[in-house]
Amino acid sequence: MRITMIGTGYVGLVSGACFADFGHRVTCVDTDAAKIAALHRGEMPIFEPGLDQLVEASVKAGRLDFQTDLAGPVGEADAVFIAVGTPSRRGDGHADLSYVYAAAREIAGALKGFTVVVTKSTVPVGTGDEVERIIRETNPNADVAVASNPEFLREGAAIRDFKLPDRIVIGTEDGRARQVLAELYRPLYINAQPVFYTGRRTAELIKYAANAFLATKITFINEIADLCEKVGADVQEVARGIGLDNRIGTKFLHAGPGFGGSCFPKDTTALVTMGQDNEAPLRIVEAVVAVNDQRKRAMARKVVSALGGQARGKAIAMLGLTFKPNTDDVREAPSLVLINTLLEMGAELRVFDPAGMENAQAVLQGVTYCDSAYSCAEAADALVIITEWEQFRALDLGRLRRAMRHPVLVDLRNIYRADEVDRHGFSYVGVGRPAVERVLDEI
Ligand SMILES: NC(=O)c1ccc[n+]([C@@H]2O[C@H](COP(=O)([O-])OP(=O)(O)OC[C@H]3O[C@@H](n4cnc5c(N)ncnc54)[C@H](O)[C@@H]3O)[C@@H](O)[C@H]2O)c1
Repeated sequence: MRITMIGTGYVGLVSGACFADFGHRVTCVDTDAAKIAALHRGEMPIFEPGLDQLVEASVKAGRLDFQTDLAGPVGEADAVFIAVGTPSRRGDGHADLSYVYAAAREIAGALKGFTVVVTKSTVPVGTGDEVERIIRETNPNADVAVASNPEFLREGAAIRDFKLPDRIVIGTEDGRARQVLAELYRPLYINAQPVFYTGRRTAELIKYAANAFLATKITFINEIADLCEKVGADVQEVARGIGLDNRIGTKFLHAGPGFGGSCFPKDTTALVTMGQDNEAPLRIVEAVVAVNDQRKRAMARKVVSALGGQARGKAIAMLGLTFKPNTDDVREAPSLVLINTLLEMGAELRVFDPAGMENAQAVLQGVTYCDSAYSCAEAADALVIITEWEQFRALDLGRLRRAMRHPVLVDLRNIYRADEVDRHGFSYVGVGRPAVERVLDEI
């Protein structure tokens, strides 16, 4: 089948490449000419493990190409996916749907023959209705069905998630659209992945409800971690103790610096706004948003307290800038608030991330960018781990200890064992676990 993917970002490029890998003929379109030019040169605009090989293979096989103009590919497509960004609208927390609606208008004018227009972007309930209205208004003769097919992939594991999803949600009442989408996802039936057909509005809400639930789980364990610190319990063991209950499950129960990224913050906020607008307030999600916002600054206070209460003039090494490992995405990363708060408090920041430095440089000034974890730690008064990249899990603690001015390790992902860092002479602070305290002179 022929697919046109509008928007070639984290979702559009991965989905397009995976559909092409299934054997479909895919054109990925983006208004960002530099992105398309990079793809023509074989360069990936994002860091996602395995993506370059997947793209290269499908381009070579003639099943995947990239364009800035959507008219031609849309005219030939059986399905056009909208995978453009839906960021938070400044001021009110609504999802900004201007990119989605602009894409819908452009698509409308280029449709030929029966086409399914599928919203893959995360959009508030009713957006599909508006996309359909726009298309019918712009092109009254279009033979079109508008469906919702929210995406659940995770950056860093996006290809696997797309190819082995827990479920595929397809929201449409239109029989022809269901057939087209069933055909597009047919290669996945071999893996017996459940396709869940539902109404368009329900599909739109499923995506927000899923993200809000996961964000709630994270926030819940973060608050339990705070309580653990006060009462002398260990949150890792509490999480395991509750997670072994199948009704709860072990996933998304890792205490840390608060959730970030391109989805959870904006999606929880948009869901709160949706609830308020529809007079069905979502008090739990409202609390999750508020607690998570406060947590990022609270992490800065945690670092300062590990430094003995003063940040001014202290050199702090920060490992990890991306909101999670295996991505270069720094959107809404907790690191940004943490670093900016520490800068405001007068600290000097040295930072390193294996893949996120370029994106960070666009939004984060006033820090020293380093080229490795060890050069970052040079003469530091404290080392803070904020993203649990694999390469930070087994650092040479002896070498770090020698490089640093003061051996203080703040592990916001709980990836080290207290006894291990203690052996190397570190003062150690995790999240929701007993700290290892040392008297640090002249810090
Ligand atoms: N990133 C994730 O992990 C993830 C996971 C699930 C769902 N989502 C949702 O998917 C959507 C896309 O997210 P993303 O992270 O891929 O965004 P992104 O910002 O990485 O990519 C969006 C792309 O769309 C392009 N674009 C905007 N308007 C366009 C137009 N009219 N025509 C063609 N291209 C256009 C932009 O240039 C950009 O390259 C969002 O709604 C997001 O909430 C994201």
